[in-house]
Amino acid sequence: MKLPPFFEENRIAVDAALDRLLPAETTQPPSIHTAMRYSVFAGGKRIRPILCVEAARIFSSDVTPALHPACALEFIHTYSLIHDDLPALDNDDLRRGKPTCHKKFGEALAILAGDGLLTLAFETIGATPVPAERSAAILTEVAGAAGTVKGMVGGQVADIEAERKPVDAKMLEYIHRSKTAALIRASVTSGALCAGAGLDDVARLRRFGETIGWAFQVTDDILDVEESSAALGKTAGKDLAQQKATYPAVYGLERSHQIANELATKAIAELSPYADRASRLRQIAEFLVLRRT
Ligand code: FPP
Ligand code: MG
Repeated sequence: MKLPPFFEENRIAVDAALDRLLPAETTQPPSIHTAMRYSVFAGGKRIRPILCVEAARIFSSDVTPALHPACALEFIHTYSLIHDDLPALDNDDLRRGKPTCHKKFGEALAILAGDGLLTLAFETIGATPVPAERSAAILTEVAGAAGTVKGMVGGQVADIEAERKPVDAKMLEYIHRSKTAALIRASVTSGALCAGAGLDDVARLRRFGETIGWAFQVTDDILDVEESSAALGKTAGKDLAQQKATYPAVYGLERSHQIANELATKAIAELSPYADRASRLRQIAEFLVLRRT
C-alpha cells in the first residue's frame, strides 16, 4: 500500500535520532554495541516512534523533544523482539528479514543486547529536553507499559503459558492488550505528554492508543496466517505450529478481520475532537489494520 510521505519523513528523522542516541559500534565493549545496532537497524517499520511524534504534533509544532521517547520506545520494542526470538521463548531464526540477534551474535550477547536496549531506553527518556515533570510522567507511562502488571512482560508470560491450551476470549484479550497494546498506548501518550497535553487529552489518547494497539496485534495474528515468511521478514505460520492463543484460532479469520476493523473504527472515533489536527494519527491507525507486513 502507498503510504503518505510523512511516514518516510518521520522514519528518516527517527533513524537519525536512533543513530545519535545509540553508542557507536567502537564503544567498549564493541560486541554488544554492534549487536544492539544490528537489531535496531534491521529494518523495522518504526510504528511506535511515528505514533509518538504524531501524537506530539497535535499539541505542539516543535516535535523535536518527542524524538527522545520515540527512540526509547523503539529500543524497548527491539529488546522485546530480540528476547522473544530466543530459544527459551519463541525460538526463531528470522526477524525483519535477517538472522535473529542470537543467530548472528550468540545467545549471551542477544540477552545482554536486549538488556542494554531496555536500560538505554530509560536513560534516553530521562534526557528528554522538557520540564522534569513531563519526563517523569513519560517514565512512569513507559515503565508501566513495559512491565508485568497489564504490561508487555506480563502479556508475554501469559502468551507463553497459553501455548497448547484452550484459551477463552477474556484471556486472549488480556494477552493482546498487555503484550502489544500497552506499548503502543504508551507511544501515543508519551508523545502527548512530551508536548504538554493536559490530563483529559492524555486520557483520550490513552484510549485511542490501547484500542489501536489491540487492533494491531489482531492484525499481526491474521498476517501470520495469511502472509509468507518473505513478506513478513519473520517465520510465518508459527502461531498455528506453536498452538498460540490468537484471534484466528479463537474466532476464525473472517471474524478476526471484522474485529480488527471494529477496533480501528472505535480507536479513530476517539480522535474526533481534534478534527484535522489528528489526520495523521488517523492515517496511521488505518495503516495498522490494512498493512500486509
Ligand atoms: C511486531 O511489531 C511485534 C509485535 C506484534 C509485538 C509482539 C510482542 C512481543 C514480541 C512481546 C515480547 C516481550 C518480551 C518481554 C520478550 P512490528 O510489526 O512493529 O515490528 P517491526 O518493528 O519489525 O516492523
Ligand atoms: Mg512471541
